[in-house]
Amino acid sequence: MTTKRACVIGWPAKHSRSPKLHGYWIEKYGLDGDYRIEEVTTDDFPAFIMNLAGHGYVGCNITMPHKDAAFQLSVPDDRAKGVGASNTLYFDNGVLRSTNTDVEGAMGALDQASPGWDKHTKSAVIMGAGGACRAVIYGLIERGIETIHVANRTYEKAVDMQTRFGDRVKPAHWDDLPKLLAGAKLLINTTSLGMKGQPPLEVDISGLAPDAVVCDIIYVPLPTPLLADAKARGFKTANGLDMLLHQAVSGFELWFGKRPEVTRELFDLLAADIAKA
Ligand code: ATR
Repeated sequence: MTTKRACVIGWPAKHSRSPKLHGYWIEKYGLDGDYRIEEVTTDDFPAFIMNLAGHGYVGCNITMPHKDAAFQLSVPDDRAKGVGASNTLYFDNGVLRSTNTDVEGAMGALDQASPGWDKHTKSAVIMGAGGACRAVIYGLIERGIETIHVANRTYEKAVDMQTRFGDRVKPAHWDDLPKLLAGAKLLINTTSLGMKGQPPLEVDISGLAPDAVVCDIIYVPLPTPLLADAKARGFKTANGLDMLLHQAVSGFELWFGKRPEVTRELFDLLAADIAKA
């Protein structure tokens, strides 16, 4: 049997944690597999993708800045169509298909933080209105969340979310946050604020509901100041590394034929790596 190979394609991509993550599972399950980084420029990306099998790959992850192009160059499923971007590509009888597992990443992290959260959550507040926000909104709608407030520095981009996903999405100005956070049960940061090297995220979460869940897509640092604050206040938290691990599950299964488990041991392995960043 020949070795199954997958990769993450980005530009730049050399700091990706995906090889460590997939490599851990390949070893754990004793599979004949390989996962590596491919740094490919925007100009070279279409030719690379169209010859993915020729490069020896059974599939790949896509990261910045290629998620939109990957969507255009493959046959997307409903999730990728809904989000308008693809992060996981795989072959199905020779057809290059794609999905968006960032949706599962976000929902998996929330499930882990607070099993059953979706049964008693009617509304959510999302900060930010970029690509990550689209995946989160898609997941929240799949889970039946009725009202999704999107607060963004650039208000027009929050309006774009309503245009894309419909009236469940309520666009909001950044200054509306204090009002929106009073009594909120679910808060998700999808901005880059609070990331190492970026400005801090200054938001007062003291008025959230006592059983609130706070989620941050950022994983450098781990935890972010937002999540440290949330934890200190007794809220449940889901972090960006939880999301990264959960988004990786379906790709691994599609390429290597085994559904892997997200474990504390794997989390700690990646967290130790991130602490060095
Ligand atoms: P991604 O695809 O990872 O979501 P993105 O599309 O660049 O990344 O989105 C980044 C998000 O962080 C946006 O919502 C951005 O707000 P704008 O739409 O106004 O640009 C938000 N963001 C970045 N820097 C910010 C800052 N200094 N203050 C407030 N929001 C910020």
